Amino acid sequence: MRIGIPRETKTLEGRVALVPAACADLVRRGHEVWIEKDAGIKSGFTDDQYTALGVKVAPDAAALYEKAELVVKVKEPIEGDLQHLRRDHLLFCYLHLAAEPVLTRRLLDIGLTGVAFETVELENGDLPLLAPMSIIAGRIGVQVGTHLLHQPMGGKGKLLGGLPSTERGKVVVFGAGMAGGNSAALAAAGGANVVVFEKRQDRMAEMMRLGPNVTALYPYEDVVARELETADIVVGAVLVTGAKAPHVVTRKMIQGMEKGSVLVDISVDQGGCFETTRATTWKEPTYVEEGITHFAVTNMPGAVPQTSSQAICAAILPWVQKLASGPVARQPGPGARHQRRGREDRASRPEGHGALTPSRYTPCGSVPQGAATGR
Ligand SMILES: NC(=O)c1ccc[n+]([C@@H]2O[C@H](COP(=O)([O-])OP(=O)(O)OC[C@H]3O[C@@H](n4cnc5c(N)ncnc54)[C@H](O)[C@@H]3O)[C@@H](O)[C@H]2O)c1
Repeated sequence: MRIGIPRETKTLEGRVALVPAACADLVRRGHEVWIEKDAGIKSGFTDDQYTALGVKVAPDAAALYEKAELVVKVKEPIEGDLQHLRRDHLLFCYLHLAAEPVLTRRLLDIGLTGVAFETVELENGDLPLLAPMSIIAGRIGVQVGTHLLHQPMGGKGKLLGGLPSTERGKVVVFGAGMAGGNSAALAAAGGANVVVFEKRQDRMAEMMRLGPNVTALYPYEDVVARELETADIVVGAVLVTGAKAPHVVTRKMIQGMEKGSVLVDISVDQGGCFETTRATTWKEPTYVEEGITHFAVTNMPGAVPQTSSQAICAAILPWVQKLASGPVARQPGPGARHQRRGREDRASRPEGHGALTPSRYTPCGSVPQGAATGR
């Protein structure tokens, strides 16, 4: 199989899908691996490091996509990538189609086969290819939120952890999964009072175990509104797999918050879980609405590529090996429960909150050994 790794084109995105050591593994298995010139540079990997391990370097995106049968990238294709994609490509990357009807249509028109990282699901419901980036996004969410609380950044001017004679800051988190759980853990370790809203009992219990400064609550509307009135940082990290994010915070609730507080919507890649969310980039990551600073960058882990590329690569490699070893449809056995396909006959369709959920799932072989679950 000819495997192609394009350079990421999203604003200030620094990740690369496969690090040199992973490419070497694929070369050893008999595959031809191509990487676009300088694709690994922001993650700390030069072209020479790839070529030394048998990887071939394509001078530009056109040459890379021309060579590739299996395209492995990190973020969903945008305009610069779409022009190079063909019907015979097998595309493996994050797609987040629930929030991207236009992209969905474009991919269907091209007619390629796509497997979205975020919808690869193990039998126990874990999302092994979303987990590592969610962990990173969850931690960045609190780091960024803390910075945005500083008065020169437009924040209310509060230090989260407090100290003798001052009150602690308060962080409210929605969703106690990979992203939200890590936000809660970091905020709690920093000394903040933390309130986590979650629907699953097991995850609420996990949050309570973080420490006595963490409270886990069910997201009843009036309780949410009450807790937000005194929040300094609010992190949105809910997920309904494959669907558009539900709005857990309304504009009216945000109007009741103290000015200079901060909202971080990690779920923005699934459409956002706050009513006032609109997607931003690392170039202009924030905007102010209702007196509240909003941060809603869709590729948060792209800011720490030296960490993120290693983490995403380790998670996807077993699946790349699987996909590269033969046509997806011919893979035997159960395994990843879900994979989203882009062909017209397996099209996603609008449902629920304007969501796009897969109309048909295709088994893609047994769970590769070593596939990370993130938990
Ligand atoms: N912006 C970024 O750069 C970035 C990076 C990584 C992940 N993400 C996104 O972060 C989101 C969370 O991902 P995850 O891996 O943590 O998911 P996860 O499945 O591990 O956790 C989601 C949690 O939300 C809970 N939940 C669902 N509906 C809820 C509701 N109405 N109220 C309270 N809790 C609710 C679920 O029970 C679950 O525990 C996803 O949308 C993911 O795509 C964004």
